[in-house]
Amino acid sequence: MQPFGPNPSKGVVVTGRKDEIAVRPAIAADSNAVCAIDERVLGRDERRDFLRSAIELGECLVAEIGREIAGFVVVDRSLYDQRFVALLIVDPAHQRRGVGSALVGAGERRVPGEKLFTSTNASNLPMQALCEGLGYVRSGWIENLDEGDPEIVYFKRTPIDSGAGRDR
Ligand SMILES: CC(C)(COP(=O)(O)OP(=O)(O)OC[C@H]1O[C@@H](n2cnc3c(N)ncnc32)[C@H](O)[C@@H]1OP(=O)(O)O)[C@@H](O)C(=O)NCCC(=O)NCCS
Repeated sequence: MQPFGPNPSKGVVVTGRKDEIAVRPAIAADSNAVCAIDERVLGRDERRDFLRSAIELGECLVAEIGREIAGFVVVDRSLYDQRFVALLIVDPAHQRRGVGSALVGAGERRVPGEKLFTSTNASNLPMQALCEGLGYVRSGWIENLDEGDPEIVYFKRTPIDSGAGRDR
């Protein structure tokens, strides 16, 4: 039997599967991997408690490529009790491959038809491009958080689609 169709040289099928991004809720066993990615990106481990608590509360989703955690998102209510993408972090080794977009998309599907906010520094052009590419619009900004680098707030009404809840 041919494992991958009539032409086994089409290894691309296998590669495609390996590179597939799968998003699922984080579990306690993911804590170390999530914190390690955060520390690699932030350069400090000061968000460990926040991240562990988000995982416990079911507010954290992880993206896996193969069996490796490539990034995570935290969606909570920490902005004026509104649904809020509080943190979106992709391992530098996996950036620019659609992981961030997949995580935000999965976060949106958990709250179909609702208001969803996120925010990022004015200096963070990659995050701004990601938000705008996913249809978020600017919804004001906050001065005096990071000196000389205002926080831009983004907003989107999440779509209502038949895939709602798939990544819960
Ligand atoms: C911002 C971040 C989450 C993006 O994750 P990612 O997995 O690389 O994003 P994607 O591959 O889904 O990219 C989606 C779009 O975002 C934009 N984008 C992402 N990285 C970019 C970069 N370095 N420069 C310019 N645009 C970028 C592009 O428009 C991209 O679409 P394209 O690749 O078709 O051009 C990631 O760079 C990251 O973790 N940064 C550090 C932490 C951070 O700043 N988080 C956001 C605030 S909490």
